[in-house]
Amino acid sequence: MSEEIRLQKFLANCGIASRRKCEELIVQGKIKVNGETITQLGIKIEPNLDKVCYNDKEVKNNNASEYVYIILNKPIGYVTTSKDQFGRATVLELIKGVSARIVPVGRLDMYTSGALILTNDGDFIYKVTHPKHEIEKTYTVTLKGQVTLEDIEKLRNGVDIGDYITKSAKVKILKIDNQKNISRLEIVIHEGKNRQVRRMCESIGKKVIALHRTKIGNIDVKDLKIGKWRYLTKKEVNNLFK
Ligand code: URA
Repeated sequence: MSEEIRLQKFLANCGIASRRKCEELIVQGKIKVNGETITQLGIKIEPNLDKVCYNDKEVKNNNASEYVYIILNKPIGYVTTSKDQFGRATVLELIKGVSARIVPVGRLDMYTSGALILTNDGDFIYKVTHPKHEIEKTYTVTLKGQVTLEDIEKLRNGVDIGDYITKSAKVKILKIDNQKNISRLEIVIHEGKNRQVRRMCESIGKKVIALHRTKIGNIDVKDLKIGKWRYLTKKEVNNLFK
């Protein structure tokens, strides 16, 4: 027997749109279940039994047997390996109710928060992590002390992080708080060396207090509370490589 699932969740799982947008589609009368237009939120369907149509076209959950793509707003304190030899909490523990064998795409340090994609699509992982595709990753980093314009120029042009000179990066000052003696920067990179942002900041002599990834390509986690996740829409997945 298949499980019941809320209509908006089913639509979002099928990649129609975000869950919130799917609620709007329901209220606007654009969704039919077994031929009947539904305008109330809260109804549940059985995906294997009920016929769901959007603008009179049947919606099918290809994800059920295919690939799933998830964006998580990772909290600090979780590791991005699938299993941790020291028994630390892994990000997979935050993704409940997904039977596909998903894994994180790339990594975030245990003490970095923010956008992390998980999927069971190996080709997608290869493409996203391959430098050829130059997918931008956007970070907000809080540093101890006050940065200078010279520091910013160095980060923009590339710095020596020990075993590698970083490629050019977009760097913007978001805030310098003289009283608290902290600086906040936005750094956009399109590479993914181990602990790259932290090592870039260390190379200009600054200690990282907090690091958060706000975006992967155009996919951000503004609409997700820390620790929460959602499915990516097909459009979001395809747009990553444009
Ligand atoms: N750069 C880092 O230093 N840490 C991360 O987790 C991601 C990018």
